[in-house]
Amino acid sequence: MAKREHWGSKFGFVLAASGSAIGLGNIWKFPYIAGQNGGAAFIFVYLICIAIVGLPVVIAEILMGRTTQRNPVGAFRKLSGNKFWITIGGLGVVAGFIILSFYAVVAGWSTGYMIEALRGAFSSLTTAEQANTHFNLLVGDPTWMIGFYTIFFVFTMAFVFLGVKDGIEKGSKIMMPILFIILIILMIKGISLKGSEEGLAFLWKPDWSKITGQSVLIALGHSFFTLSLGMGALMTYGSYLDKKSNIPNAAVQIVFLDTLIALMAGVAIFTAVFAMGQDPAGGPGLIFNTLTVVFGSMTGGYIFGLLFFVLLTVAALTSAISLLEVVVAYFVDERGWSRHQAVLIFGSLVFLFGIPSALSFNLLADLTYNGKTFFDIVDFIASNVLLPVGGFFISIFVAWIWGFDKALIELKHGAENIFKNRTWLVTTFKVFLKYISPVMIFIVFLHSVGLLESAIEQVQNYWIIIVLVIVILVIILSRNRMKK
Ligand code: PHE
Repeated sequence: MAKREHWGSKFGFVLAASGSAIGLGNIWKFPYIAGQNGGAAFIFVYLICIAIVGLPVVIAEILMGRTTQRNPVGAFRKLSGNKFWITIGGLGVVAGFIILSFYAVVAGWSTGYMIEALRGAFSSLTTAEQANTHFNLLVGDPTWMIGFYTIFFVFTMAFVFLGVKDGIEKGSKIMMPILFIILIILMIKGISLKGSEEGLAFLWKPDWSKITGQSVLIALGHSFFTLSLGMGALMTYGSYLDKKSNIPNAAVQIVFLDTLIALMAGVAIFTAVFAMGQDPAGGPGLIFNTLTVVFGSMTGGYIFGLLFFVLLTVAALTSAISLLEVVVAYFVDERGWSRHQAVLIFGSLVFLFGIPSALSFNLLADLTYNGKTFFDIVDFIASNVLLPVGGFFISIFVAWIWGFDKALIELKHGAENIFKNRTWLVTTFKVFLKYISPVMIFIVFLHSVGLLESAIEQVQNYWIIIVLVIVILVIILSRNRMKK
């Protein structure tokens, strides 16, 4: 077997993994869900979710990858060998396949909007309705849609084709600094606009009345998506690390960068939106409808509009690369394919599978099931089912099946000084990984598939029986313990 490729440096790994995490989730989705859920108060809840659920699972995933030096299927196989767990790894590969197929469709819009910005198309837009009509006209055109979807896809495949060090790492080293610089420029522009204080106040002055159970669950679900968790993307990237690397340290950097970029995008977008008197709660159309009008009317809007869509496309590209890499790593590790073969064949298959999603906004718009288009359905299955299920089982696996103590021994490689004389750190991590993360993720799952409300009702109806069952279980379990 050929020697496994490794990252050129730890910095390269952190950039590539941050590239995976930072994507449409940060720049497109985070601002609009924050906008819809009241701004500052929502952001506060989101930060807590990132810290207590996100970070432990980021560490767990990278650790599984580094320990086994394998893709998600191989990682579960090496650590347990049990069919059930191998299937969980397989779900990750399937999730990578599915997410990439619709993610690239939205990324295709962004790629197309770079050209719109270049053509100066935003200058004629004066209301959000006009911008919306323009958006519908574009995505309603199958040629436009498939065209930019294809262009985006070719770039994604090209980077993965070139390999871990020469493709993914090099690409991230060029693209991530560009992303950062553009975002700083956009932020400065936003803050310098007259009336931007209102936007800043919206982001930093919490209105607690806006926080509901629903918004907490949205924050929790999003912290998962934005950190690329639950499908083995970070596990796969972690598998190209060597034992000397410090995982907790890298994980904190990745989580920090992901959060920083989301907040910066929030500042850049809301200062401009408020300064130009637009609606902050524009929903999914916030970027394509609200922001384009903002660019159309601000001084220098031509160049800032262009920069913005370059930013969005680059962010999406580094995430798409990580999705394809999960699928490719599986075929290389487990099936003995060459990287080039795997990229060409499976890249093309994902591409074909994504075409109905790309056509869901035009030719296939009427092909619906329960009012959902093909795009909506695959998005739902991947984001609301596969990711939470994957995240739940990954944390359960590391904490309970592989076993926290064994995992900790592995984690300490390269991170000796972090854990030295800090038992509280170990205990905290243990409590989060064993109990808090799985429980929280399970609740998100119930909510996102629409079962939470009825589960609560059931509990209300049958709470006496449920409490009895739990008491009996605890008694039986503790008796067994004592016998041992
Ligand atoms: N984290 C990426 C984003 O925020 C999306 C993603 C999810 C990428 C899962 C890889 C795996 O856009």
